[in-house]
Amino acid sequence: MDTDSKAAFAPRAPRAWPTEDCSRIPNWIYSDPDHYQAELDRIFYGPFWTFVGLECEVPNHGDWKQAVVGERAVILTRARDGQVHVVLNSCAHRGAQICNKAFGHDKELMCPYHQWTFDLNGDLLGVPFRRGVKGKGGYPSDFDPRKHPLRKLRVECVNGAVFASFDERTLPMKDYLGDELYKRLTRVFDGRGLRLLGHQRQRIKGNWKLYPENMKDSYHATLLHVFLISFGLYRIDQKGELLQDSRTLAHNVVSSRANSSETKEAREMRSLKADFQLNDMRIVTPVQEYDDDVTIQNVTMFPGLTVQQQQNLLQCRNVIPRGPNEFELSWTYFGYADDTEEMTQRRLRLANLTGAAGLISVDDTEVFEFSGAGMRPNADRDCVVELAGRSPEPPREFGDMVSEGPIRGFYDFYRRIMFND
Ligand SMILES: [Fe+2]
Repeated sequence: MDTDSKAAFAPRAPRAWPTEDCSRIPNWIYSDPDHYQAELDRIFYGPFWTFVGLECEVPNHGDWKQAVVGERAVILTRARDGQVHVVLNSCAHRGAQICNKAFGHDKELMCPYHQWTFDLNGDLLGVPFRRGVKGKGGYPSDFDPRKHPLRKLRVECVNGAVFASFDERTLPMKDYLGDELYKRLTRVFDGRGLRLLGHQRQRIKGNWKLYPENMKDSYHATLLHVFLISFGLYRIDQKGELLQDSRTLAHNVVSSRANSSETKEAREMRSLKADFQLNDMRIVTPVQEYDDDVTIQNVTMFPGLTVQQQQNLLQCRNVIPRGPNEFELSWTYFGYADDTEEMTQRRLRLANLTGAAGLISVDDTEVFEFSGAGMRPNADRDCVVELAGRSPEPPREFGDMVSEGPIRGFYDFYRRIMFND
């Protein structure tokens, strides 16, 4: 065997981060299967919150919906106590999935295989043949149903948004996000009742991390999203804010305000499509509804949720990993319970901007697949992340949006989890 062949069969050396700082990201972390498994264990099953739905999706006792944490199917339920619970969708008996539909309504959850039956909070209510048949067999006399509930996840609801975690160490949401970020999240989830407007799902051939990166890199919108630029929804000269949780750098907010003056650069970008007109302008005609002039606010929470307010469009975009080279993007569109019919229609019209075939989002999906295709065979190379410096610290005030600082912030935190750096 020659030296090259020997090297091919040698165990891989542990791979380190290529640079001291986060100005480089190694391509192999977007495709390596072992690394992906470690991400599931340390991140998705670790001390972090995953968005699993809205309370208004399960309004009544007996309502349930399926959701996913990491790759594990879970069930979000409304139990007898009126509370929402999240339990593992895997029977405590022989591990079979109990619920197979997206939504349902049942007094209890019964496994289709051997009919172990659980209360909606996951407690085991009954098992067939507990005392055997005609006094013979059955479970041992000390078999205790209380010891065999469905696995229960930790749950926290933030004014109608439901988060779950497998790890008891996960911080309460206010501490998890920090005061500033929590304030931005509760600007949208402000305590008013919510109304579900719809869902969309999309499978994308790329690594899950591409999504939070995309949401942290706001300046791509001025280059990639021609629709936004053409109709003046987002411009390079728009005043914006890149705010990171100063403790972890893992969570961040990108927000921007409408402005009336237009710079030469922005005019030039728009002039490319000056003769483009929409037949129905209502799709880009929002009304102000919050007590501020923030037109776009993206709260991106580690690991993979963005709560977006884009004018009157409200949505949760949740990343579900599906292997190292694929992820699912799950969109939950909502409004407030007290919305007028006119406002609901406005939100639904604006929803055309995003989703699987959204006028804006479709561009992102396409480039995620370009990224996946370009990175997978080039795992020995690194990405360059040096825009606005090499440090993870971004500008904190409304001002310049052209920065990759929040991406460096994400990896500063990620390295501490995955590389013990
Ligand atoms: Fe985008």
